[in-house]
Amino acid sequence: MASTSAITFSTAAGLAPAVRVGADATLLDAARLAGVEMDATCGGRGRCRSCRVKVLSGEISPPTLQDTLQLGHDEVKERFRLACQTHPMSDCTATPMPPKAESGFQILAGRVDIGAQSGLRLDSGVMKHVITAKTPVGEHHQTSDVEEILACLPPTVQRHLSLELLRKVPSALRKDKGRLTVTTFNDEVVDIEVGDTAARCYGMAFDIGTTSVVGTLMDLATGEQIAAVGGLNPQAQYGGDLMSRIAYAQFDDTKLATLRGKILSGINEYIREACEKAGVAAEHIYKIVVVGNTCMHHVFLGIDVSYVGLAPYAPAVRDPLVYSAREIPLKAAPNAKVCLLPIVAGFVGADTMACVLATRIYESEEIRALVDIGTNGEVVMGRRGKLFACSAPAGPALEGAQIRHGMRGALGAIERVEIDGDVACKIIGDAPAIGICGSGLIDACAKMLDAGVIDSNGLLRRPSSPALVPALQKRISNGEGGREFVLVWKEEAGRDHDISVTQADIRQLQLAKSAIYSGIIMLRDVMGIRDDEIHELMLCGGFGNYISIDSSVKIRLLPELPVERITYMGNAAAIGAQMALLSETERLRAFELSQSIEHVALAARPEFQAIFVDGMNFSGETFAAQARRSRPASLPAGAPGPVAEALPYISAAG
Ligand code: FES
Repeated sequence: MASTSAITFSTAAGLAPAVRVGADATLLDAARLAGVEMDATCGGRGRCRSCRVKVLSGEISPPTLQDTLQLGHDEVKERFRLACQTHPMSDCTATPMPPKAESGFQILAGRVDIGAQSGLRLDSGVMKHVITAKTPVGEHHQTSDVEEILACLPPTVQRHLSLELLRKVPSALRKDKGRLTVTTFNDEVVDIEVGDTAARCYGMAFDIGTTSVVGTLMDLATGEQIAAVGGLNPQAQYGGDLMSRIAYAQFDDTKLATLRGKILSGINEYIREACEKAGVAAEHIYKIVVVGNTCMHHVFLGIDVSYVGLAPYAPAVRDPLVYSAREIPLKAAPNAKVCLLPIVAGFVGADTMACVLATRIYESEEIRALVDIGTNGEVVMGRRGKLFACSAPAGPALEGAQIRHGMRGALGAIERVEIDGDVACKIIGDAPAIGICGSGLIDACAKMLDAGVIDSNGLLRRPSSPALVPALQKRISNGEGGREFVLVWKEEAGRDHDISVTQADIRQLQLAKSAIYSGIIMLRDVMGIRDDEIHELMLCGGFGNYISIDSSVKIRLLPELPVERITYMGNAAAIGAQMALLSETERLRAFELSQSIEHVALAARPEFQAIFVDGMNFSGETFAAQARRSRPASLPAGAPGPVAEALPYISAAG
């Protein structure tokens, strides 16, 4: 075996230049080295299929258990592999075959017209002063260019100018007879431009999520939103959830720099795109507000995330931060201010603070809750004067990872399911189905529960169960990886296989939904209130806005409140970031609130385990309970009842 092998990737753009790696490297390592985009949603642990490749030539290591579990025997035989599990044994050529189409990926931007939102004071802190300054005349005058400029500005403006600005001063002052626009942020001079540029005063708000990034370009004078941009977080190839991302960069400065480089170049690209869309020069962006969970926040700043991933999960800093765009660096006016909202504690980060601002939950007389459903869910509950918060690690299942035919909410994803005699699915983009996204999985499980295809423990009925109509019976089979239920037959799918929900998928959903549900229940219990005392439950975040409320209540992702009390809030983190961009009052309010919110650490509460285990169940009855209920009173204990088909599940359900 050669000590190194040349790996070539064949991509849609052609053959990538070969890279040489040793046998200890995986094809995923090789792809990264070659600059070939490859997602690694589970962080290279063989638990998703986002790094799927087809090996076209060359010797590779034998398939692992994960290869077989994730891809099935047929694909493995055809030399499909998980790149993260495969080591080259000779020179190889491979082609990335991600099991998804990212085109049309649904990214939810803020839907609220912030400028028009009542009660928002437009006080971004950025002011443009148009002045005509004198040039110093007469050698006997003890003055300077800077002093002449400052003499035209309010006395509160600070005398200190950055070296970069100082260097601009002499020529700027003399170019247009002293006509200048001096831009300040909270009385600090951030730019000096020749002529009158008062009409050009912009800012950008960014919500950096684990999965996606949303950016909004806004006019700071009018509060108008002038361009929206967004896409997947380019760090996704280093892990789909927070813990995978942290594990990647833990105790490794080079990897931390890699993650940081990805997000900074992504954000700079979004700034360029937004400016191009709106016909605005990036130099006229003077303030940028960034929100994100604790991990995203730290990586953005290049702060070590190692300890964020270890108990007691303490962030390096919680305070609101302000740096210059040059320091970060971001493409804007060089002295533009980059402001990060504060962190509450642990994983309850700046994005949650932005949700608190956007929902104004802190003003409510009634008890309200906000729930940000994502790979890491956050829950805030309370009312004016007292708010509690917790974070609930749901994992990436709701994003479609670790689900056999899972995918993100993109073209071809099943997003809604109806079961009325037979199954009907709604597909994003009305395209042939190629997989199922998180909202589709929630809907599918709720409808399967209604139709009796699964019980409250999440157990699938056995094939040909007489309790089901023939059309549904036909859809249950014992597949390679256990029992499964077909949603879309191969003939109607955009894949060469059926699109189904497996027993393992249902388990993954149960774990994810129980994390969120338990967070809500835990805060409710800490507050000592009943469900019916929650006046409103507000769903925030990209994912929360696509789920069916009925189905979410049905499967106990959300507590059983009257559905009119559960509301969609759009991407509240992005909206909160926009509010802090347009209003220093809001940005400072975030700091005050972050100091007063009480963080509830779920894992540290002794009752959490029991709540979580109970939260795994769906509502409704188990097949075992049905069997007991249907058993005629005359039958002796132990004799098979009329719902005998349920009996195999009695032992399985324990
Ligand atoms: S299976 Fe390879 S990254 Fe998830």
